[in-house]
Amino acid sequence: MSLGGIFDTHSHYCDIQFEKDRAQTLSFIKDSGVCGIIECGCDYKSSLEAVKLSKDYDFVYAAVGVHPESVNDYTKDELENIRNLYSNKKVVAIGEIGLDYHYDDLAKDKQIYLFEKQLILSKELDLPVIIHDREAHYDTMELIKKYRPKGVLHCFSGSVEMAKEALKLGMYIGLGGAVTFKNARKPVEAAKMLPDDKILLETDCPYMAPVPYRGKRCDSSMIASTAEFIAKLRNTDTQKFIDKCTENSKRLFLS
Ligand code: NI
Repeated sequence: MSLGGIFDTHSHYCDIQFEKDRAQTLSFIKDSGVCGIIECGCDYKSSLEAVKLSKDYDFVYAAVGVHPESVNDYTKDELENIRNLYSNKKVVAIGEIGLDYHYDDLAKDKQIYLFEKQLILSKELDLPVIIHDREAHYDTMELIKKYRPKGVLHCFSGSVEMAKEALKLGMYIGLGGAVTFKNARKPVEAAKMLPDDKILLETDCPYMAPVPYRGKRCDSSMIASTAEFIAKLRNTDTQKFIDKCTENSKRLFLS
C-alpha cells in the first residue's frame, strides 16, 4: 500500500544539493504522495529563493527568516529586506530561526538578539515560527516563555520533560529522520508520548535522511519511512498517523 497526503513542514530544496535536479525531484515527490512542503529560508537570499519556489509550485509554501548559523554573515538591512517578503500570500511562517550553540564561532549574544527580534516580529505579524534549537534548550525555552509565539520546535532533540513544557506553551513538535537513528533515545521517548494533535512531520532535506536512507541526500518522499517508524512506536496505523500530522500542519500554518 502506498502512503499519501504527506506534508513536509521543513525542507531546503533551494540548497545547492538540488541544483541539478530540483524540478525533477519536486515532481517526483509530488508523485510519491507529498501534498505540501514548507521551504525554509536561512538568510535573505535563501528566503527570497523560498518565496520564488512557492510561487512556482502550488504545493510549496515558504518560511522566511534568519537562521542562527547565518549570524556571522548577517547585515543590518537583512531583517528589513526579509520583512518585505511577509506580504507574500504563500509565506506562512518565520523560519528558520533560533539558537545553535554547537559551533563556538557563532556569537550567542548576536544569536539571541536575532532570535528575539524575529519572535517579536512573529507576534506583530501573527505568524507561526519554525524554531531551530541545537544544544541550546535552556535559552530557547526561556525565550519561548518570554514571547509565547505559536509555532514548532523543529527536529526536536530535547527530553520528554522539555516536550511537556513546550506543549504547555502551545508549541508543536517537529519530528524527522533523527527519530529513526540508532542513538535517538530522547526523540524516541518524545515521539511515544506526544499528543496526536501536536506532532508535525518534517525532513530538513537535503539533510537528515531517515533510516534506511541515512547518509543519502534526503527528500520529502522519505517521510514515509519516518512516519512508519513513529507510527509503530505509537501503535497506530501509518496512514492515519500521516493524516493527523498533515491536519496539524494545516492548522498551524495554513489556517
Ligand atoms: Ni533546516
